[in-house]
Amino acid sequence: MPYAPAAFPAGRPRRVRRTPALRGLVRENNLSVDDLIWPVFVRDGQGVEEPVPSMPGVYRRSVDKIVEAAKEAFDLGVSTICLFPYTDPAKKTLDCAEAWNPDNLSNTATRAIKAALPDMAVMTDVALDPYNITGQDGFLVDGYVVNDETVEALVKQALSQAEAGADIIGPSDMMDGRIGDMRQALEHAGHINVAILSYSAKYASAFYGPFRDAVGASGVLKGDKKTYQLDPANTDEAMRCIARDLDEGADMVMVKPGMPYLDICRRAQDEFGVPVYAYQVSGEYAMMQAAAQNGWIDGERAMMESLMCFKRAGCNGVLTYFAPAAAKIIGA
Ligand code: PBG
Repeated sequence: MPYAPAAFPAGRPRRVRRTPALRGLVRENNLSVDDLIWPVFVRDGQGVEEPVPSMPGVYRRSVDKIVEAAKEAFDLGVSTICLFPYTDPAKKTLDCAEAWNPDNLSNTATRAIKAALPDMAVMTDVALDPYNITGQDGFLVDGYVVNDETVEALVKQALSQAEAGADIIGPSDMMDGRIGDMRQALEHAGHINVAILSYSAKYASAFYGPFRDAVGASGVLKGDKKTYQLDPANTDEAMRCIARDLDEGADMVMVKPGMPYLDICRRAQDEFGVPVYAYQVSGEYAMMQAAAQNGWIDGERAMMESLMCFKRAGCNGVLTYFAPAAAKIIGA
């Protein structure tokens, strides 16, 4: 006799998990190529594609190679790319003037991508660390990153990025008051449609390590970033920062890092109902790639699962080094 329970269970939730068709019918969230923003590293030179050792599968590319890679990603459906420059150490200074040089790497790459792919959205990073001798996101004075002087420089940087054709600027610096000042400066300069995706909830995290290698900031960073990036212990404070940035004119907000901060994503979406993005940062990527390379996890499945979790947590999209790889699987 086959086993039959004495009483029917009150429900059999497993019914809807029985086949792929049924699982598809009840699926609550979907990951689409529209959700993906691809961060890339730009360096100088021609025809250069240099691997970043702590981020298997990630490269620093010269502008021509960035354009090629952007085309491939765009063909896979990834329509937003986010630029991070690896600046020649000789161009790093205390006043960070390279940050608003109209012909710096980020601006040159923006123009090249927009010329080749007008329909691809280009997002740029507003922060001084790639250009700063101290590796800090702002000006270091007597061991402290000063706020207002830094904001003044960030506004110049943001304007130069808008001038180069950026569709979205991403202030990742965590200074106070920068969103309002940037918004106003952009409006006055006629860049009324340049969107601001503010890194409102950016934490002082150990998960940025490989990124700092990728942009050449690891060796140079003096001290840490705890006087401006958020304490990983806090949630309410992140909500206050989001509220303030929205008030000052942010169109979208970022939570960073991603996987360890899904609670922040969920709360941001529930409380504000605005476009919320997560940055699945370099350390998260490196951990997953390292485990996959060792055969300890199934890399593809873990990648797709991690990206779906951002949707479940209420994110509208995710910045991820996996973007083209994930797009390939979504499109397959
Ligand atoms: C700095 C910046 C960082 C990242 C993006 N912009 C690092 C930091 O704050 O030190 C990290 C991204 C990543 O780890 O993938 N403006």
